[in-house]
Amino acid sequence: MKKELRKAVIAGNWKMNKTPSEAKALIEEMKPLVADAKCDVVLCVPFIDIPAAVEAAKGSNIKIGAENIHFKASGAYTGEVSADMLKEAGVEYVVIGHSERRTYFGETDQTVNLRTLAALNAGFKAIVCVGETLEQRELGYTETLLKYQTKMALTNVTAEQLKNVIIAYEPVWAIGTGVTATADQADEGNGFVRAAIAESYGADVAETVTVQYGGSMNAKNADELVSKVNVDGGLIGGASLKAEDFSIIVKAASK
Ligand code: PGA
Repeated sequence: MKKELRKAVIAGNWKMNKTPSEAKALIEEMKPLVADAKCDVVLCVPFIDIPAAVEAAKGSNIKIGAENIHFKASGAYTGEVSADMLKEAGVEYVVIGHSERRTYFGETDQTVNLRTLAALNAGFKAIVCVGETLEQRELGYTETLLKYQTKMALTNVTAEQLKNVIIAYEPVWAIGTGVTATADQADEGNGFVRAAIAESYGADVAETVTVQYGGSMNAKNADELVSKVNVDGGLIGGASLKAEDFSIIVKAASK
């Protein structure tokens, strides 16, 4: 295991929170707190917040991401946002396949794959989310499920494109619930993801891919989680809405 081969990435996922003016204020508050980070720092924000967030983050080490992307270049897809639109707005990262998209908005492994390809073809870094439900875990399907979701998401992704892929292992039962996976469970889940990548691209390539943990990561548990060999940072929901908490997580991943 070669943790030093990959850069830790701490990415906030604001979900459906913060108006543009609130986004600007929060980023202004965060900027000095994360300025000396040794990991990559990303904030994935609602579409409508992107211009304000990009403007507020200018000149800092904070990169801005979107929370979704459509797989078609343009057309009759009411409510969706294309790669070109996000590019022009200054987005660098895109979250794809979050469990809330899968659960509430009919996202499937196939559409996750299409969105991943669209993001990579447009030159974005894709943060692709995978994760098992509590029922799947209790039935003993965690490894099978994580490998399947990872491979499906990466169908037709080249080894070259994989350099712009981050996988976020987010157990569905740990998202927004305050129930965090133990550090060992996170490490194991991330290990299953890495093993799936190794099966498709080879072990050497798999060692270079950033695999985050997500699911109630916070200022208190981040240290232990990111110290695990397979945990290369985190995708942070609730705690990314508080500047100080988020900066403590960034510091944990900067060690
Ligand atoms: P949480 O969300 O940190 O609030 O659990 C994580 C996520 O959904 O990415």
